[in-house]
Amino acid sequence: MNLPFKFISKFPEETEQRAEEFGSLLSCGDFILLKGRLGAGKTKFVSGMVNFFCQAYDSRYNIVTSPTFSLMNRYFCGRDKSNKEIIIDHFDFYRLKNLYDLENSGFFDSLSSDSITIAEWGDKIGFDYTNIIKNYYFEVNIAVNEAEGGVITENLYREIIIEKK
Ligand SMILES: Nc1ncnc2c1ncn2[C@@H]1O[C@H](COP(=O)(O)OP(=O)(O)O)[C@@H](O)[C@H]1O
Ligand SMILES: [Mg+2]
Repeated sequence: MNLPFKFISKFPEETEQRAEEFGSLLSCGDFILLKGRLGAGKTKFVSGMVNFFCQAYDSRYNIVTSPTFSLMNRYFCGRDKSNKEIIIDHFDFYRLKNLYDLENSGFFDSLSSDSITIAEWGDKIGFDYTNIIKNYYFEVNIAVNEAEGGVITENLYREIIIEKK
């Protein structure tokens, strides 16, 4: 997969599969920001990324769910060749209220650690954290084809763009 990568996804499984391919481009400490409306498929995409790491390095199967209430889910994906544990921190800031919550969520700790940090609704953060991320990050934009009047149904396709910024 070469970035930027743009594709149409007609099924949830397709989104997940592409996210697995994208996962193979990632390394420890990377930050991935996901954008798109509620029900767009952000969590599905995260599931694909986590699947890639769990299949590549482990064993244990992680079930990816939306961390909407806890703000963060942590997935342990096994160990790499140098026996370092691969950790993915999955945030969902849809319900983020303030900087206090953000600090308590562990987001800053995750960004400055070796774990892979993923954020749904990262655009709700409202705080400049660019100085604590690497000199690049990845952004995934999922747009739902809403020609049918804004109602999300199972048969609306998604246009997904993956970029390195
Ligand atoms: N092409 C597609 N890609 C991803 N999800 C899809 C697609 N088509 C239908 N869906 C459905 O849309 C929903 C997406 O949910 P989720 O990943 O939780 O969204 P978000 O995290 O953006 O709120 C799922 O129920 C999924 O089955
Ligand atoms: Mg979600």
